[in-house]
Amino acid sequence: MKYAAVKRAYDVISPAYDFLFDRIFHAGRVAAVSHMRITPGQRVLEIGIGTGLNLPLYPRHCHLVGIDLSRQMLRKAQERVEHLSLANVTLLMMDATRLTFADDAFDHVLATYVISAVPDPVQVLREARRVCRPGGTIVMLNHFKSENPVLGAFEELVAPLTTKLGLFKPDLALTPLLEHAGLIPDQVQRVNALNGWRLVRCINRE
Ligand SMILES: C[S@@+](CC[C@H](N)C(=O)[O-])C[C@H]1O[C@@H](n2cnc3c(N)ncnc32)[C@H](O)[C@@H]1O
Repeated sequence: MKYAAVKRAYDVISPAYDFLFDRIFHAGRVAAVSHMRITPGQRVLEIGIGTGLNLPLYPRHCHLVGIDLSRQMLRKAQERVEHLSLANVTLLMMDATRLTFADDAFDHVLATYVISAVPDPVQVLREARRVCRPGGTIVMLNHFKSENPVLGAFEELVAPLTTKLGLFKPDLALTPLLEHAGLIPDQVQRVNALNGWRLVRCINRE
C-alpha cells in the first residue's frame, strides 16, 4: 500500500464514506470508545479519525486530538466538530507513522478501522506506544485475517486489489502484528456483523 494511493482513495470516497460505513460499523465504534474508560481531563489521540464518526461517542470532558492523512476526510470531521459544537477537539493533518507529539503525551490512543488501511501498521502501533503514557490504553478495532482457511484464502485473493486501490489490506494477521509492535493485548472481543471485526485493547507497558 502506498501513501499517495491511500490519500487519494480516502480523498475520493470522503463524500460517500458516512453513507457506506456509519451504521454497519456503529456497534464496534461504541464498544471501542467505551473500552478506553476515559476519565475527566484525560488526553486522547484518535489515529486516522476520518470523517469523525466516533466524535459523538466521546465524553466532552476529555481533550481529543484527531489526526488523518486525508485532507478531505478531515474536512468532513471538521464539519462534524462544528455541527456538534465540540470545543474539546483538535484536528490535524498528520501521518500516523511520524507523529509530531512528545513521548507519553496521551492517556489513550484509538484507531478504528485504520490499522489495515495504513501502509505501515507496525510503525503506526510503535508510534502509538511512544505517545501513549505507561499504563495508558491503546485500542484498535479492525478486521484481521480470518482463522477460517477458506475465508483466509479469499482475503488473500482480494488483498492485491484492495491494497492497490489504497483502501485496506484484508489479510492483515493480528498476532504477528502485535508481536512486531511489542504489544500484549489484555482484551480481544469480536464485534459487528458476523463477529467479523476484532476489538483489541492493550495496556501500554513501556
Ligand atoms: C477506513 S478509514 C477509518 C476512519 C475512521 N477511523 C472511522 O472509524 O470511520 C481509514 C482512515 O485512515 C486514514 N489513514 C490511512 N493511512 C494513514 C496514515 N498513515 N496516517 C494517518 N491517517 C491515515 C485514512 O485517510 C482514512 O481516513
